[in-house]
Amino acid sequence: MDATALERQHRRIGRLKAQGIVRSQVLVHHQCKTTLEGLRPFLLDPIKAKQLELLTLKIQSGTKPINVAQVRQLSPLRYPGGKTWLVPEVRNWLMLAKRKPAVLVEPFAGGAMVGLTAAAEDLADKVFLAELDDDVAALWKIIFHGSAAEVTWLRNSITSFKVNLDNVRDVLAKDTQETKARAFRTIVKNRMQRGGIMAAGAGLVKSGEAGRGLHSRWYPETLGKRIDALRTLKDRITFEHGDAFEVIRRFASDSKAAFFIDPPYTAGGKKAGNRLYTNNEIDHEGLFALMSKVRGIAMLTYDDTPEVRKLAKHHGFRIVEVPMKNTHHAIIRELLVMKP
Ligand SMILES: C[S@@+](CC[C@H](N)C(=O)[O-])C[C@H]1O[C@@H](n2cnc3c(N)ncnc32)[C@H](O)[C@@H]1O
Repeated sequence: MDATALERQHRRIGRLKAQGIVRSQVLVHHQCKTTLEGLRPFLLDPIKAKQLELLTLKIQSGTKPINVAQVRQLSPLRYPGGKTWLVPEVRNWLMLAKRKPAVLVEPFAGGAMVGLTAAAEDLADKVFLAELDDDVAALWKIIFHGSAAEVTWLRNSITSFKVNLDNVRDVLAKDTQETKARAFRTIVKNRMQRGGIMAAGAGLVKSGEAGRGLHSRWYPETLGKRIDALRTLKDRITFEHGDAFEVIRRFASDSKAAFFIDPPYTAGGKKAGNRLYTNNEIDHEGLFALMSKVRGIAMLTYDDTPEVRKLAKHHGFRIVEVPMKNTHHAIIRELLVMKP
């Protein structure tokens, strides 16, 4: 290249740089090369950045609806309304965040699927879980803040438990304030009550899987292994038995916090949360207002109702629809309400 051509090229590179366009080298498989060539014009256009990001998200999570049965389980609780199926979306959300969150806050923890995954996969430096339900709280307290002796007691109680109707009824009827005994009762309640429903008075599992009755959801070895695995994460996870609103307020000014919000949803006339949890009265309007003020990033998950869409719009959130296949193989739509 002669001196004039070289100078012309330098000027061109300078002009492009001023427009925000820089040179970048990528490794590409020959089978993907044509696609990459086709993408070239879009890569120069800043308006296409969001679309490309969404495309990446789609490729990463697969375009098919998420299937609940295909996600690895970490929680010892089978939680009604549990968000195991949402894990791939959450993973993408946290990985594509501008920076790794210093803390992932999950203030309506329940089975805590998202928080546990974030801790296990190092998607955030720390995880902060909160839950109001006394029984669920007792379990998390023992796992993350209990002594080694308490965890061993819990594990042994699970593995030595003889499952029959009398024993199950005895455990459920026990009125105990002791945290470790309460933690054990939570596991039994969650496994033996129909659908894992944690509210008092739910019926017991009847014929269950393959007609095995009360045994059908009782996998003592698996439960023990999950508890051991979670215990190894205890330095990354803080659990608090408390109110979600108070916890959100505490982290509101932290720009490095990420919030995963999965409240019991009882608004919009669809009383999905009513029978499932002991604590199901939530001021959703207040929650949206509070979340609109936090400085960190946030993902809220809700049923798709006009009321939720209205609240999201009013408070300036972004809405993403996620198709999912539930346990009955029906495809349903969930709304992710996102900030920013
Ligand atoms: C939809 S569930 C969360 C399920 C969870 N995402 C999972 O994957 O298992 C909502 C949870 O919020 C809890 N909850 C209700 N009101 C609360 C409050 N004010 N503060 C904290 N937790 C609350 C309920 O007890 C319930 O466990």
